[in-house]
Amino acid sequence: MEPVPCDEDDHQNDVHPDERDPDVLRAALTRETAARRRADCLAKMQTDVVKLALDLLVREPDIEGFFGALTKTMVEEGDSCSCGVWLIDEEHQRCEPWMAYVGDRLYTRTSDCDSGTFPRESMASHLFAHTPGWSETVEYESDDPRLPEPVREFNRRAQVTAVVVAPLLLGSRTLGWITLSSSHTSECWTQWWRVVLIEAIARQAALALHHSRLADQRRLEERRKTILEERNRLARDIHDNLAQGFAAILMQLQAAQREAFSLAPAVAAKLDTAVDLARTHMTEARRSVGTLRPNVSSGEDVAKALKRIADLVQRTTTVPIDVSLDELPRFGDGVEREIVGIAQEALTNAVRHSRARRITIRASTVRSLGFRLSVHDDGRGIARERPTAGFGMTSMHERAERIGASLTIVTAPRSGTEVVLAWEPASLPTQVHFAS
Ligand SMILES: Nc1ncnc2c1ncn2[C@@H]1O[C@H](COP(=O)(O)OP(=O)(O)OP(=O)(O)O)[C@@H](O)[C@H]1O
Ligand SMILES: [Mg+2]
Repeated sequence: MEPVPCDEDDHQNDVHPDERDPDVLRAALTRETAARRRADCLAKMQTDVVKLALDLLVREPDIEGFFGALTKTMVEEGDSCSCGVWLIDEEHQRCEPWMAYVGDRLYTRTSDCDSGTFPRESMASHLFAHTPGWSETVEYESDDPRLPEPVREFNRRAQVTAVVVAPLLLGSRTLGWITLSSSHTSECWTQWWRVVLIEAIARQAALALHHSRLADQRRLEERRKTILEERNRLARDIHDNLAQGFAAILMQLQAAQREAFSLAPAVAAKLDTAVDLARTHMTEARRSVGTLRPNVSSGEDVAKALKRIADLVQRTTTVPIDVSLDELPRFGDGVEREIVGIAQEALTNAVRHSRARRITIRASTVRSLGFRLSVHDDGRGIARERPTAGFGMTSMHERAERIGASLTIVTAPRSGTEVVLAWEPASLPTQVHFAS
């Protein structure tokens, strides 16, 4: 390298004596060149990773395919023995292994594992509990004391020498982790570029995951909207055709009863039966409309909606319906719609099937449970052999599941039935308890 000419007179007081030493100058230049190369390499690596991510997104039809190809590339191109993806389950506050490319095979959550495989649950618990790893990349040695013993034991057995873990960061949120294991004995493992590579990959992976989740949510929302529209259409049809039709028949029959003075007893009895049938079916058709359209009207909170449906149902029965409501906060449209739907079905069932003398709806906020809804009747109880005869029970169950609530139905012969909805984060599946 050519020495740099300098004007001794101008600068001799500014220059440190060592900087005139050619060896020192050469070393400084070498350092600078290395730093520049490193910056160039870093920029190229970032570009390559973005290109890879885009290629994979175009090539792979779904997010699982994308991550499968990504982990494979990391193992093959990154000279590693395995690459795993771990996702946070926010609802259940835990981390779950999602997939891993090991050797030359992709393992997914449902893949069979033989006894010699990686202790996935142990590693998942560690990732979730290791706070520093939520925001920054962590490098582990094979026998790192921070790792749980089963993982260290596996590393020894499988001759894994190092593991790098990068969080999948989206703004201030962590979606999960990507891990890269290597069995190299050379020092190259600790080279900075591996960390840069996994961090660049993790950034792209987090973005792809986020977009895929948004798309899933949009699809679900579309589906829900379509179902609601279809239900509304059905409700309109039932209301406009069936219910109105029965109402018209009923009016005609009642007019016939009023106007016909001397009917033969058999004909009069048949007319009475026809009036009863028309009235019953008109009521049923109206109830069906209500069940199909439990939607909370815009601006209507749960308390108002519950009062409204209780009023509507009260018009179809002589059984008193008591409503007891705490002051309730807003839960969001989606949740409120499902709560009201469950209340509507439970109330309709109580009126239709229980032969109760009294029905009570209670809605309260309980500190430990969040929200609690109870629809209780003092009727005959659900017959053991037919707890799931219709759509209503299934639909209540599905609604509760959609909002992560637990639904419990307690019933006993001649003591009545209580449907209890508890909205809490860790929910239980629907249960039907038969008391003797
Ligand atoms: N409160 C209740 N008291 C007594 N029996 C009930 C009660 N709720 C439900 N049942 C029984 O459980 C069965 C299933 O209820 P479900 O709501 O699933 O169906 P359905 O009301 O018969 O029809 P659908 O709801 O589809 O219009 C009912 O047919 C009824 O025999
Ligand atoms: Mg029902």
